[in-house]
Amino acid sequence: MMHGSVEDIEIKLLIQAIHACYGYDFGGYNEASFKRLVTVILSKYGIPTISRLQDEILQKPDFFARVLPDLTVTTSEMFRDPAFYREFREEIIPFLSTWSAFKIWHAGCSTGEEVYSLAILLKEAGLYDRAVIYATDINPTALKVAREGIYPVTQIKRDTQNYIAAGGRESFSSYYMASYDAVRFDPTLRKNILFATHNLVVDDVFCEAHVILCRNVLIYFDRDLQARVLDLFSRSLVFKGYLCLGSHETVRFVRGGQEFQAVSDQHKIFRKVVRSGAPLQ
Ligand SMILES: C[S@@+](CC[C@H](N)C(=O)[O-])C[C@H]1O[C@@H](n2cnc3c(N)ncnc32)[C@H](O)[C@@H]1O
Repeated sequence: MMHGSVEDIEIKLLIQAIHACYGYDFGGYNEASFKRLVTVILSKYGIPTISRLQDEILQKPDFFARVLPDLTVTTSEMFRDPAFYREFREEIIPFLSTWSAFKIWHAGCSTGEEVYSLAILLKEAGLYDRAVIYATDINPTALKVAREGIYPVTQIKRDTQNYIAAGGRESFSSYYMASYDAVRFDPTLRKNILFATHNLVVDDVFCEAHVILCRNVLIYFDRDLQARVLDLFSRSLVFKGYLCLGSHETVRFVRGGQEFQAVSDQHKIFRKVVRSGAPLQ
């Protein structure tokens, strides 16, 4: 008698194999979305079954390096959810302006669009030079794009609309150089940004941040992993520091969520309300 479908068993074995062989633990990821990503990989590489994919991954480290970026969703855009950035200007900029120097951590920054968006926002608020911005992700391929700051010209119309809707104060085109099919963002926006790999599943605190943005990442994790990450964020934030999540994410119903208070339920902005993060039980 089998417990679960063959596919479910294969997925579990694949996760165990990747963990044992390469140290990446996808065990706490949302099963349905992980399965969808694996299905996309199968058809991308013309591999008939998950077991065969597991073989390929175990036998060929090069192949795993190619597949790793496909195991996470990297969709992003400039000024994604413009109303969130308007709220950031209203609520968080006044807080940051009280500090002579501050740190911002973008966890799961993907290809960097939200990091450049925030750099622009800080510049327009006259606060950029006080900031150190850490931009981290598990996916080295996405980070490479983020470091270069070059994006397809096809996304610029949408990004410009987002920028205007987010309350942008300049002409958006003053922040990039367009050539043929790509735009290159002003390298001075990167001056205070440090890009680095960081895995929210296993890596620990590395800075004391005034604001953490981790938008559209927790949605791919199960409740236990969300609790682990929330604990990490609590220990990484200063007292009264801000945590910004994606539009479908919340700290409610997550273990440790009571260490944060909602400042804006609508825009998923929370504030750390304990003096130090309590370790997870
Ligand atoms: C949908 S993107 C979100 C990008 C951006 N924050 C935004 O909202 O536009 C999710 C990102 O989370 C990253 N990610 C997934 N698992 C992670 C982990 N364990 N540690 C760090 N980043 C992770 C993925 O590589 C991906 O770049």
